[in-house]
Amino acid sequence: MLPAVGGFPPSDRPLFVAGYGELCRIDLSGKQALEICGGCGKLAAMLAETFPQAAVIGLDLYQAAGPEIDAMCKRLPGLSYVAGDAFDLSAYAAESFDLVWGQAALHHLAHAPDKLCREALRVLKPGGRLVFIFEPLGHNLLVAAVRAVHMARHELGDESNLYLSQFEGMSKGFAKCDVQVFNLLGYPMKALSDRFGGISRTVQRWDSGLFRRFPKLLRYGANCNVIFTK
Ligand SMILES: C[S@@+](CC[C@H](N)C(=O)[O-])C[C@H]1O[C@@H](n2cnc3c(N)ncnc32)[C@H](O)[C@@H]1O
Repeated sequence: MLPAVGGFPPSDRPLFVAGYGELCRIDLSGKQALEICGGCGKLAAMLAETFPQAAVIGLDLYQAAGPEIDAMCKRLPGLSYVAGDAFDLSAYAAESFDLVWGQAALHHLAHAPDKLCREALRVLKPGGRLVFIFEPLGHNLLVAAVRAVHMARHELGDESNLYLSQFEGMSKGFAKCDVQVFNLLGYPMKALSDRFGGISRTVQRWDSGLFRRFPKLLRYGANCNVIFTK
């Protein structure tokens, strides 16, 4: 089991594992990868650990800090953190990255998708990928309601709901866009800890069966990973 998976409730683990699998899809050794909206940088550190020969940059509006992260940077020479704006990647040369990714990031950036894609397309090499993992989907009314309450309570101005039509719009400059959807009935299972992991796994099996049998339900999943290939 991936060490980071333990931090998620059982219902979110398949979503994370599939997303992390996308980040590791190609061998990043000798290549450059950039995480946008990386927060405290744990995922960038995880990727740098998986690919010690890669240059992995974690970028967030706030530079990652803390003894844990400092220790990671010392141990993993390929890992670095910078403070910066995901909408302004002018510090990086054109076609310099094989992978640009974000976790729980796109719903913070979806108010300016054209700007975001322009920058990503510029810095990605041909065939490189822009990957967003662990994103909420606004077609699911329960997700939309929970997020509306969360945004109102914390006065979050930069968060948007995400819709499949937005991914279609964003995919215009890319060769390909793949969307992986999770958690239909499984969304409320987020509240369940490992003690009730069996219930989560049963509901996940129901979800997979429902998605296979009724593909139109895919739009009502609660979470997704989105992979744009240049
Ligand atoms: C929900 S958190 C996700 C953090 C991390 N990726 C994780 O999964 O734990 C969203 C992060 O996006 C960052 N953020 C929001 N807008 C940004 C922007 N324009 N450029 C860079 N980072 C941004 C915030 O500072 C915050 O750390």
